[in-house]
Amino acid sequence: MVSPISEAVLDVIADALVDKGYSLLSDIIPDYVSLALLEKMQAKHDIDFKYAAIGRGIEQQVNAEIRSDKISWLDKQDHTDKAYLSIMEQLREGLNRRLFMGLFDYESHYAVYEPGAHYKKHVDALKGSQNRILTTVFFLNPHWQLDDGGELLIYDEFDILLEMVQPQMGTLAIFLSERFPHEVLPTLKTRNSIAGWFRVSHATHGF
Ligand code: OGA
Ligand code: MN
Repeated sequence: MVSPISEAVLDVIADALVDKGYSLLSDIIPDYVSLALLEKMQAKHDIDFKYAAIGRGIEQQVNAEIRSDKISWLDKQDHTDKAYLSIMEQLREGLNRRLFMGLFDYESHYAVYEPGAHYKKHVDALKGSQNRILTTVFFLNPHWQLDDGGELLIYDEFDILLEMVQPQMGTLAIFLSERFPHEVLPTLKTRNSIAGWFRVSHATHGF
């Protein structure tokens, strides 16, 4: 069992979401969990990862001009994935208690950006679609250097740059999915992350 996120850290995240709509933190996930996630990613890398598609349903297609990462969805049955998912579950409950966000479930995938890969500026949820509410991106790159590229850029709704996040091991970015356009700059080194989305239940929103 992974140790719980402290109430103080949950307060910090909730306050940041209320004040700014996003939070950047670096010591919420224990190192041994991050290392296990990275090892698993590296072990699976050549077998299980597929080029990510964009769009939904029948309109899904791979478009390497927009995004060129390869992804693999986390598996609730997997021992290593379970450790990460249990931390996200604590986050879900903690935020629901504080902010009444009604976060219902969480989907997430590993993403590998090989040298040269990027993800053009996009928003994770269409306004009013009430599906993806809160985005998380967790980075798994030990010893990332300033000139390695692959920064996550976060913009406001007027496309003003707010943050340039280095994808450093242990950094967790959390932001409201509808509100922040963001992009991944081309990376010079292999760049690993786990992107995830807390969603609300359509059933409880009358769909
Ligand atoms: C995404 C995304 C950012 C990252 O998958 O939607 O924006 O750093 N990922 O992996
Ligand atoms: Mn995104």
